[in-house]
Amino acid sequence: MDEHIVILTGAGVSAASGLSTFRGAGGIWRDHDVMQLATPEGFAADPDLVYAFYNERRANLSRVRPNPAHHAIVRLQVDFPGRVTLITQNVDDLHERGGSPDVIHMHGSLLQGLCNACAARMHWTGHMDGQSACPSCGVQGKIRPDVVWFGEVPYHMDRIAEAFETVTTFISIGTSGEVYPAAGFLTEALRRGAQTLEFNLEPSARSAEFHKSTLGPAEDIVPGFVDQLLS
Ligand code: OAD
Repeated sequence: MDEHIVILTGAGVSAASGLSTFRGAGGIWRDHDVMQLATPEGFAADPDLVYAFYNERRANLSRVRPNPAHHAIVRLQVDFPGRVTLITQNVDDLHERGGSPDVIHMHGSLLQGLCNACAARMHWTGHMDGQSACPSCGVQGKIRPDVVWFGEVPYHMDRIAEAFETVTTFISIGTSGEVYPAAGFLTEALRRGAQTLEFNLEPSARSAEFHKSTLGPAEDIVPGFVDQLLS
């Protein structure tokens, strides 16, 4: 059977770059209300608050760089003799800036806007607010950050389902495994008979179910794993 590695990354892969995770010590949802900032209802209730939160996170991207975990994943994507699929829950662009040739952003991207008037998606690097006009249809006040909020369906689920049909190794890096549907990928990989590996700073909700869980900072442990796999 042809080897097919499916990688799922979460906020932990970008932690060493200086981007906060969501849960645990220093996590964004520790002192920000997820219902206000990451739901369609929160956006409808107070759009200015939501715009400000994503504007700050978007602006912060220019102050951070990919770390050795991102670079190691690139090496795997480029040099592994089988197929490698990279799925991320992260809305940052550090996989791309690290050199990843293909990234499935299942939770969208901070660097994209979505027009609620014409459904166009567009690259968006600057400030966004209730007066922003859609570059596609010109309508003002209908642009939102193109990130998937709780209660919305993640993107690219067709591509992801297709990837799991042939998965032989599933690798989870830096994710708490608490948010579905990504949290269910482990079950799907096990059902398909894949080898399952986890790399996380500390035990996650599902650590015991992986064939192997390696604890430590992704930026330290993933490069060595990739070197070993490719050697
Ligand atoms: P979480 O904040 O839930 O989990 C981050 C995980 O990374 C934790 O298990 C940490 O132990 C681990 N971690 C922290 N630093 C690390 C490091 N240097 N190396 C390795 N692991 C480290 O983040 P996610 O699992 O990505 O969704 O969260 C999933 C989704 O919940 C996010 O995409 C976001 C959030 O709400 C939406 O906004 C829709």
